[in-house]
Amino acid sequence: MPVLLKKHGFHTADSAKEGARSGSKHAMRVLFVTSEIATLYKRGGLADVSYALPVALSQLGVNISVAMPYYESVTTKGVTCVGQLALDYDRRRELVFVFRALLPHSHVRAYLFRHPLLNNYDDLHIADRFAFFSKAVAQLSLYSEEMLGGPYDIIHCNDWHTALIPLLIGEQSKVGYRERPRPLSAAPKALAGGETIQSKRVKTILTVHNLLYQGETGSSITLKLGFPKPLFHPFMTPLGRAVRLLTEGFEYADKVTTVSPTYAKEIAAGKHGKRVVEVFSRRKDRMIGILNGLDSKLWDPRNDPSLPVHYDASTVVSAKRVIKAQLRKALRLPESEAPLFGFVGRLESRQKGLDLIARVIKKLAGEAYQLVLLGTGQKKLVALFERLAAEHKNVVFVHTFDERLARRIYAGSDVMLVPSKFEPCGLTQLIAMRYGTLPLVRKTGGLADTVHDGKTGFVFTPYTSTALADKMKEAIALYHEKPARFEAMTAHVMGLDFSWQHQVKEYLALYQSLLKSS
Ligand code: GLC
Repeated sequence: MPVLLKKHGFHTADSAKEGARSGSKHAMRVLFVTSEIATLYKRGGLADVSYALPVALSQLGVNISVAMPYYESVTTKGVTCVGQLALDYDRRRELVFVFRALLPHSHVRAYLFRHPLLNNYDDLHIADRFAFFSKAVAQLSLYSEEMLGGPYDIIHCNDWHTALIPLLIGEQSKVGYRERPRPLSAAPKALAGGETIQSKRVKTILTVHNLLYQGETGSSITLKLGFPKPLFHPFMTPLGRAVRLLTEGFEYADKVTTVSPTYAKEIAAGKHGKRVVEVFSRRKDRMIGILNGLDSKLWDPRNDPSLPVHYDASTVVSAKRVIKAQLRKALRLPESEAPLFGFVGRLESRQKGLDLIARVIKKLAGEAYQLVLLGTGQKKLVALFERLAAEHKNVVFVHTFDERLARRIYAGSDVMLVPSKFEPCGLTQLIAMRYGTLPLVRKTGGLADTVHDGKTGFVFTPYTSTALADKMKEAIALYHEKPARFEAMTAHVMGLDFSWQHQVKEYLALYQSLLKSS
């Protein structure tokens, strides 16, 4: 369906061309800025969203482009250089080369920013590098005309990497300093309140995918960027004064969203840090939670090339048997009547609940189940799971990131484990359900919004290995004792629709409301 917004004269791609010709109107133009995009460069769930959401929005008629650093490892085809951007940073004039390409299998334009500072992701000065990228995007978005996909009406930033853009393009603070000035960080009176010419022209949204990472760096970044210090909100650390790029976004963006309603509520309740609650108590609005979707074309067991057989809800039971048998063979797990549990994800200690899984492996020794874990990450955890797998015949750990194997695990397992300590949204449980595998999750964030205990999976609440072990035992018992019920649940979850088609409309409504209010 075309997007119609009378005030801005928004319309379909075709009528957009007419509008451009008449010179008076243009389609809603959005620049979606991110550090990673699936098909170009992927580290985690952010990349999946950064591909699927812009593509879904463009299918609704939104004129959307994406911007990302042009890392050396990006090898996409059909890239052309559109020009060089002069950018002052750290008392030098730098040249950033801007390239244009199309996101694979879509009509979404991608603008890729090339500069030596933007090549290295794993670096001590990563926050400064993304502040530099943000300055480049801010500059480009303000000057950009048709050739560069602009002029933009909305800049949609994602996570701390790009959270500085609202401040850098001249947005005003949204936290009401007049009512409650703060001595260290108060903006000059003349800067407080009211709209600037820039902030009237471009609206900004910041989406938080994970509050754990805030992009902390020394306050000297303000000098490097050449922006006045009082615009930032520094705080003291043992190493000196620092700023957090993410919280600067909370201060300046027009709207702040996160990736599930429950995670938004948890943030408001202070479960993920008090500083954020403080900022939002001074903002007049709240953090909006919009659930992520799943790209139903990229994740489809009916034609997934990684699977030996394809299936839908009516054939899942027999197909799973075949895939599971092959998977067991490949993993050197013995043929068995026991259910197969899977875990696919980053091995990191703060979020994904791996400490619980490690303890549960010991607790459930002797139970009739098998477990396969796939992932890379912290050395300490790699060593731990290698040891546990060596000690337990029913456990296999594959230390690699292998998308094909991951897809076989999603399809061949009976239950996928997602026992996260916290989870802003989580894609694993959505993929599992699409592939007819019941998720076993902890009741937190997006997991609480998408999985219902006993109906679409298994849900436990306290963050303890006992609670996880009990839920796993329940799943094992159901599998053995009520196979018909287990199979019915499997077929039921395959019929659920978590595609972007629904969620994308919420983003569209948000864009429209922002433009109406300008
Ligand atoms: C982050 C979060 C995850 C979320 C993803 C996409 O990786 O940890 O929960 O699904 O971003 O928004």
